Amino acid sequence: MEIRPATESDLPGVLEIHADAVANSTAIWTDEPPTLEGRREWLTNHSEAGRAALVAVDGDLVVGYGSYGPFHAKEGYRHTCENSVYVRPGHQGSGIGRSLLETLIIEATADDLHVMVALIEAENEASVGLHRSLGFVDAGVLREVGTKFGRWLDLRYMTRALS
Ligand SMILES: CC(C)(COP(=O)(O)OP(=O)(O)OC[C@H]1O[C@@H](n2cnc3c(N)ncnc32)[C@H](O)[C@@H]1OP(=O)(O)O)[C@@H](O)C(=O)NCCC(=O)NCCS
Repeated sequence: MEIRPATESDLPGVLEIHADAVANSTAIWTDEPPTLEGRREWLTNHSEAGRAALVAVDGDLVVGYGSYGPFHAKEGYRHTCENSVYVRPGHQGSGIGRSLLETLIIEATADDLHVMVALIEAENEASVGLHRSLGFVDAGVLREVGTKFGRWLDLRYMTRALS
């Protein structure tokens, strides 16, 4: 398994993982099926300095992806980034998420960012556990600010100091 910057040719694999998370989980708060064009925008948006889009690949198969980018558009937030990490179903629980997030933290630190923020559906134990295991701390829960699959969702903020 290798972690490297995402390229255009990785996008169909990234799309498959993203589409599964939309259809089958509360990790992404929409029912709208994602498109390849949307994933192209993701890659373009995370290709500038101070941002990153990574993939984990096993041979030709994209088994995970992760990114960080601006937490907020206003310039006072410019030293803070928001991350995301997704691992292909069937490959979860084997260390891929940890490798991706570790690499995101190293690259964001090298980019001189100060804090990384994760916004996580509060009951997503795998994601909360992953972030906690890499030094993220709880920064509060917003109750019932989202909805999917006919129920309210709570949003957990977790933060990690980078530099
Ligand atoms: C959350 C996710 C990225 C974790 O990646 P992963 O490759 O499955 O996790 P790893 O195998 O690297 O596990 C790393 C650590 O995370 C924690 N963890 C992983 N799965 C867990 C689970 N089901 N319950 C609790 N903690 C878990 C553990 O601390 C684990 O360390 P350990 O194996 O030493 O105990 C992955 O499960 C996933 O893509 N889930 C669906 C999409 C999603 O929820 N993305 C995050 C949106 S915020």
